[in-house]
Amino acid sequence: MATQEDNLKDIIGHAKEYGFVFPSSEIYDGLSATYDYGQLGSELKNNIKEYWWKAMVHMHENIVGIDAAIFMEPTTWKASGHVDAFNDPLIDNKDSKKRYRADVLIEEHIEKIKQKNDKEVEKGKKRFGDSFDEEQFRATNPNILRRVEEIKSIEARMKESLEKEDLVAVKELIEELGIVCPLSGSKNWTDVKQFNLMFSTELGSVSGESAKIYLRPETAQGIFVNYLNVQKSGRMKIPFGIAQIGKAFRNEIVARQFIFRMREFEQMEMQFFVRPGEEMKWYDYWKEFRMNWHKSLGLGDDKYRFHDHLKLAHYANAAADIEFNFPMGFKELEGIHSRTDFDLKQHEEFSGKKLRYFDPEINESYIPFVVETSIGLDRMFLAVLASSYNEETLEDGSQRTVLSIPPALSPYKVAVMPLTKKDGLPEKAREIIDGLKLDFNCQYDEKDSIGKRYRRQDAIGTPFSVTVDHQTLEDNTVTIRDRDTMEQERVSVDQLEKIIGEKVSMKKLLIKDAVAG
Ligand code: GAP
Repeated sequence: MATQEDNLKDIIGHAKEYGFVFPSSEIYDGLSATYDYGQLGSELKNNIKEYWWKAMVHMHENIVGIDAAIFMEPTTWKASGHVDAFNDPLIDNKDSKKRYRADVLIEEHIEKIKQKNDKEVEKGKKRFGDSFDEEQFRATNPNILRRVEEIKSIEARMKESLEKEDLVAVKELIEELGIVCPLSGSKNWTDVKQFNLMFSTELGSVSGESAKIYLRPETAQGIFVNYLNVQKSGRMKIPFGIAQIGKAFRNEIVARQFIFRMREFEQMEMQFFVRPGEEMKWYDYWKEFRMNWHKSLGLGDDKYRFHDHLKLAHYANAAADIEFNFPMGFKELEGIHSRTDFDLKQHEEFSGKKLRYFDPEINESYIPFVVETSIGLDRMFLAVLASSYNEETLEDGSQRTVLSIPPALSPYKVAVMPLTKKDGLPEKAREIIDGLKLDFNCQYDEKDSIGKRYRRQDAIGTPFSVTVDHQTLEDNTVTIRDRDTMEQERVSVDQLEKIIGEKVSMKKLLIKDAVAG
């Protein structure tokens, strides 16, 4: 049976073979955890960005977008707390020499206990058949209840130790739980140490402390330092939001699992500025809106769940992740954080500039509170790719690999193929593309048999393939094949724009978000 790792390996292989994602600087054997997006990958990435930008900025009249610089005056990072507190607790295994995040080791241990409970439920299902009541079973089964208590106790101890930065207690917990290194199988651990995740470099040619600058670890600070510029120049009234898409950099201790955790990645963030005291209302609103944004794509509602943060970041008073069922299991895809007035207060103090908003409705000046939504673009890319990847056995016994990418996000929307390379069919196919390319990204394909060409388009997720044959020259009709049903229909060339447009339009998704949100 294929394991989850096999599945991820297949996806990585497919992504490379078809030009979605390549290992970076591969001719030099690559650079760990760094990837380049290829010709189809960048199309898919751009489409995800467009879906996010439209849903967040264009669909909200009180949200605008900016594009701030990656480099910022270094005091920014002192003020934001990243210089002092943007750390991960790391631990090394002395036998394998592998480095781990201590909190992740504990979380993985908890996940294993949860899986034991799930197995207990599966056994119960088999034993009791149709009369099985999962909720009641979970609430009464003594083994499950014991494990739930065990999980609660581990979580409470981890939370307390991390909040107090008691790294000795974190190590003790790892030892008590008998956590072993997945590589060496040993419990021979070093002490737990804090490790700052920011990359730094030097400005200009003079090296020295004063010239040290950082590569931003989140895009959010570019929004905070510009909030009054945007508010004043855009005459924005609270509540309002500022959105941004851009690169972020983190010197991750453990960077692995393909594009899931990288040292250079892209974020799509939105800071929503609200009246103090109203942040929890907006926190709930954005949690729901963002979950609906994901579900509208149709990757499967059961692939998402919320996870409330145990250890809050230094700036937050409430935080939840939207987790996605990746090939490696449920992991964080997006974070929704109530950041209080922490960042703006800090910037006011460190810059000496007033960052208050005058609220004409209540005739008061205050520092707004902020609710942020923050999603990793690369993780979203992986979520789309992984859940779209299917190896199917067809009725005739043949195999096909298909990427059932939501049509609005597919790199190409339609492939146009002349049945043969002669008799004027290529010219007619190009004429059809000329009519469609203003609206859709089209591909022309004339190589190999039609069957092979269909398989190629399935493998890159093109929702439609249009075949031009001799009849086309007579009556201006073509066959249009649907990627998912593989059904073919003969239609007039004049109908193509409408048929394709309806299926690939982002409008439908945006309307769903708005209705649900
Ligand atoms: N401004 C808040 C912030 O940066 P975060 O939870 O640290 O919060 C937000 O990051 C999102 O960025 C995550 O949910 C994840 O999708 C993405 N992300 C974080 N670190 C990443 C990494 N090393 N590689 C890829 N994506 C990452």
